[in-house]
Amino acid sequence: MSNPSSQRSAVVLAAGQGTRFKSRRIKILHELCGKPMLLHILDKLKALEVGRAVLVVASEAEEVRRTVEDYAPPFDLQFAVQTKQLGTGHALATAVPYLPDQGSVLVLYGDTPLISPRTLQRLFQAVEEEGADEALLTAILDDPYGYGRILRDPEGNPLGTVEEKDADEAQRKIREVNSGFYGFKASVLKPALSELDNDNAAGEYYLTDLLDILRSGGKRVRAVMAEDASETLGVNDRLQLAHAEGLMRRQINRRWMREGVTMLDPSRVLIDAEVELARDVTLYPGVVLQGGTRIAEEVEVRSNCHLVNALVGRGTLLDQGTVIRDSSVGEEARVGPYAHLRGGTQAGDRVRIGNFVEVKKSILEEDAKAAHLTYLGDSSIGRQANIGAGTITCNYDGKRKYRTVIGERAFIGSNSQLVAPVTIGAGAYVAAGSTITEDVPPGALAIARSRQVVKPDWTPEDD
Ligand code: UD1
Ligand code: CA
Repeated sequence: MSNPSSQRSAVVLAAGQGTRFKSRRIKILHELCGKPMLLHILDKLKALEVGRAVLVVASEAEEVRRTVEDYAPPFDLQFAVQTKQLGTGHALATAVPYLPDQGSVLVLYGDTPLISPRTLQRLFQAVEEEGADEALLTAILDDPYGYGRILRDPEGNPLGTVEEKDADEAQRKIREVNSGFYGFKASVLKPALSELDNDNAAGEYYLTDLLDILRSGGKRVRAVMAEDASETLGVNDRLQLAHAEGLMRRQINRRWMREGVTMLDPSRVLIDAEVELARDVTLYPGVVLQGGTRIAEEVEVRSNCHLVNALVGRGTLLDQGTVIRDSSVGEEARVGPYAHLRGGTQAGDRVRIGNFVEVKKSILEEDAKAAHLTYLGDSSIGRQANIGAGTITCNYDGKRKYRTVIGERAFIGSNSQLVAPVTIGAGAYVAAGSTITEDVPPGALAIARSRQVVKPDWTPEDD
């Protein structure tokens, strides 16, 4: 096919209430590996080069629109609103006015996010190359409970499907199920949909009845069996969500290990779908990497680090229990154990941020050090500055936040408080135990504590 995208369209059914989820949020916006199920589905359509996709949503779909707004798919995306959820067949009928009359149409459900584009491609091929009017993807499951079962004649030709609710005892034993992916010739949809009725246990218009309608009308129907049944897992409740999440996580981890990432125990490393890792990254057990986190080469992330939207430069060590959120760390730096970087912090190359140090919305230039027990908030720390143990930037007066500026090579003695707004000049020293309320000029020494008093022979002798 010379240019399939102009002739391929897709319909994603996503208007169901998802009652089994027991959630305020609609089902397809629940996340798998940090990404809404719906966007996983749209990713597949990207790979298949469809020209247009129609998303069938219920009327209250503002959140869905917002979710896809930033996604910017490389195909034309239309919304079809199904005001009453009268069944999957009715949902597809809602989408038909937005579809071209010609070409091939892939229909999929918004709650089956594990399917591979390769498998979906087989449905397109059955229609485009093998002349099927409908091709249906089936799978063999050990436990087919809840799925529609595939009925075949003695020669093995597909006859139709029967839903769990409508099946008799013998039919319930069938382990071949409808996985909910279909390819159609666009031209057969409208007439076949007009023949659907809702004469079944659920009182719904079943999309699955189209197979029987088309076959009875002399059209060509085909069943394509999935090679890997786990791709077809439907996510109807939180148990299936957790199961799907586990499968996807294993895929993600395997992909990164193939790309040169070492994981000491891959079963205990959680990496979101959009995270990016370079070669020779080492991940210890208990590491969680989320959002748009990106980690450069030769970074070691030790046990129980949790990174959300973190950028980490080459050769850096994140020691145990470090938490980084919306922040970046440069190259060859050492952070942790038990450090917390947040709120847009930018730490430069070779910085050292040590045990129990919290850094918020601050810039640390290269080679700056804050090795122990420190809070740096709304601050900027010059290169090679040394922040002693127990230093606190007092950035909040109960109403507003203020900045602390520390010049390069400055030395802040241990257990100092810097009451913002305040500036410590380049190369200046602050004596240990000082409470600094006024600016310190470059090169100066500031001592802001009471003098030591020694009272000799103060303890009574017989004590
Ligand atoms: C459906 C199939 C079943 C198949 C299974 C695979 C039908 C009748 N049954 O069952 O054969 O084995 O998927 O996972 O098709 N939806 C709408 N509007 C509606 C109803 C549903 O948009 O009026 C959407 C839902 O949001 C969902 C999809 O269609 O994304 C499937 O609906 P769901 O209720 O989950 O169907 P299943 O019971 O899983
Ligand atoms: Ca379902």
